[in-house]
Amino acid sequence: MASNYTVVDHPLVKHKLTLMRKADTSTASFRALLGEISLLLGYEATRDMKLRDEEIQTPLAKMTSPILDGKKVVLISIMRAGQGILDGMLTLMPSARVGHIGLYRDPKTLTAIEYYYKVPGKLDDRDVIVCDPMLATGNSAVAAIDRIKQGRPGSLKFVCLLTCPEGLENFHAHHPDIPVITAAIDERLNEHGYILPGLGDAGDRLFGTK
Ligand code: URA
Repeated sequence: MASNYTVVDHPLVKHKLTLMRKADTSTASFRALLGEISLLLGYEATRDMKLRDEEIQTPLAKMTSPILDGKKVVLISIMRAGQGILDGMLTLMPSARVGHIGLYRDPKTLTAIEYYYKVPGKLDDRDVIVCDPMLATGNSAVAAIDRIKQGRPGSLKFVCLLTCPEGLENFHAHHPDIPVITAAIDERLNEHGYILPGLGDAGDRLFGTK
């Protein structure tokens, strides 16, 4: 398996993920937990953000203190389940710019078909974080990154909640340069392209559509 990934190995992440996996976890809890885990995934995904020093005045003294450098981060959600991670990330980075990509999986071929693309105009000097809870077959993620790379972003990362060896392999076969940040790598994909043991359909669980 390619090595350009990070499993966020934190007790809070593990605990929250276990609750999300349970079949009887309510939609409201699932949504809240995804938001909470996304803060922790976001913490890891932003650990190398650039800083510059700024001269400031505290109530007591002048000091030189670090502040984020460069343009605002761009968060891109792969619709529709990406919204769950996006919401958490926006709590962490409220002034981030936001893009959306609509992709659905053809149920027979499992290939990704784009139906929507709206991202901030100039990506070339921005750090972009792509959000999708499930990196399963990897086909949607590969298609999303193909498309976003056309905008030549300054940097690009992919944040998901769960993945599996097949998904990670496929993703890095196409995009070995893109780091993946995830809460867990599960056992395998089933014949319908779902992650096992997984947590079911993240979009349905997030929006209560099943
Ligand atoms: N998408 C989901 O929502 N769940 C999976 O297990 C795989 C893809």
